[in-house]
Amino acid sequence: MTLLYLNGKYLPLEEGRISVEDRGFQLADGVYEVVRVYRGRPFRMQQHLGRLCRSLEGLRIPLPEPLPRIEEVCRKVTEGLPEASIYLQVTRGAAPRVHAFPKDAAPTFLAYARAAQPYPEGHAFTLLTVPDERWARCNLKTIGLLANVLGKQRAAEAGCDEGLFFREDGTVTEGCTSNAFLVRGGRVFTHPANHRILGGVTRDAVLEAARAVGVTVEERPFLLRELPEAEEFFMTGTMAEVMPAVSIDGKALGGGRPGPVTLRLRAAFRELVKRECP
Ligand code: PDD
Repeated sequence: MTLLYLNGKYLPLEEGRISVEDRGFQLADGVYEVVRVYRGRPFRMQQHLGRLCRSLEGLRIPLPEPLPRIEEVCRKVTEGLPEASIYLQVTRGAAPRVHAFPKDAAPTFLAYARAAQPYPEGHAFTLLTVPDERWARCNLKTIGLLANVLGKQRAAEAGCDEGLFFREDGTVTEGCTSNAFLVRGGRVFTHPANHRILGGVTRDAVLEAARAVGVTVEERPFLLRELPEAEEFFMTGTMAEVMPAVSIDGKALGGGRPGPVTLRLRAAFRELVKRECP
């Protein structure tokens, strides 16, 4: 049985009921987090909660419960699931449909966990470029994910694992559900964590791991036309961890196989996970 926490109560996931007038459902007026659990311990819970708070502030939705209580909920829903991913969602709540904030809606808060479905060892991403048609506040982890959904579907229909977003000027921002890194001249480049991308918790951990092993990472945007010169390319995310990307639009990327810098950073990231989630 998957245990759901919904507005103060625990119940089986399939018994969860949300109002038709919930603003998450009607207006995508809400935010979410996905947290990976390794060996029964959530990875970087504080960073996820920090980002949840920033997303809520960005949408001016109040924190539904005190943070220690949210942590307790996460512990409870992952009981018996040592390798899991926790899904947390907060919406502005249910109220008769108007666009401006309703006066007395209480936030809807839910959390549940599923057994983690990691990619098989040795998997590498194939990418499809997709235009970045998202809004200008991508740093907020909102449930308004249509551009990501459509990008991911286009990638899937092309037989690819992930869509790689690019802007009208050719700048590569990130993946539909992951951050993007290009390796060239032994250096690593990734888009700065500004309003154009979601600042990944994994991205931050990889920047730390890179510093620790002496790999230089420059947070500067790169262009689509730089991709053919990439020595390596990889993506990061809660489920993807550090994932080599070996093709783009059907052409080999970074030599067409996982490169040494990527593999070094993946090993360093895994060491960091082991230290923090022993
Ligand atoms: N997505 N960029 C986007 C657009 C994302 O949706 C995600 C994660 C990331 C990576 O962030 P993190 O390292 O914190 O997982 C970057 C989640 C996992 C999802 O939507 O399921």
